Amino acid sequence: MESLAAAQNALMPRMPRIGDPAPQFEAVTTHGTIQLEEFKGTWLVLFSHPADFTPVCTTEFIAFAEAHSVLRQMNTELLGLSIDSVYAHISWVRNIEEKLDVKITFPVIADLSQEVANLYGMIMPGESTTEASRCVFVIDDEQIVRAMIYYPLTTGRNVDEIVRLVTALQTTDENGLATPANWRPGDRLMVPPPKTQEEAEGRAQDASVECTDWYFCTKKL
Ligand code: BEZ
Repeated sequence: MESLAAAQNALMPRMPRIGDPAPQFEAVTTHGTIQLEEFKGTWLVLFSHPADFTPVCTTEFIAFAEAHSVLRQMNTELLGLSIDSVYAHISWVRNIEEKLDVKITFPVIADLSQEVANLYGMIMPGESTTEASRCVFVIDDEQIVRAMIYYPLTTGRNVDEIVRLVTALQTTDENGLATPANWRPGDRLMVPPPKTQEEAEGRAQDASVECTDWYFCTKKL
């Protein structure tokens, strides 16, 4: 007999997890109809916000717009989403430009049907059933979900951290290394732990790494 947990699981919307292919969708945005597939070959930061014309979301949109050119230099695009109409989105981004002098250069999904929000588990019913929480999905150029961040309605995100996260993912992909806590570009990287005794012994002979102990080695790029 199916357990209660399995039955409850079956009723829960399936949320993507790190390493999963990003769920595909087609959606109406402020830049016209977009399919996720169109972003293949580009990294993507897909993020949701609770509602247009709200103060914290406005500060986030400004911060994302300011980070857009840096992200583009990293082959990374931005795609916003909320459960609002495209007319509300257009009116809000025009208002931000008029009142706060910041042009919103990325598309914003108008997800009135909640289709994309449900596909990505952006609605947290314990917090709100009508608004998306502040979710971030980093999707790589092969459309694999590489990282997810969730913030509640009342806390604006740290966009510098999102840029740092994309930088860290791209740097570790390119070099087969890992980033330590609070890593910033230019800092040393961590060598992933050895998987065999032989590998651990080999570390001691590798002049390109500095080891404090067999499992704790760093490398400068
Ligand atoms: C805001 O963006 O200001 C906001 C949105 C929903 C709840 C609380 C704050």
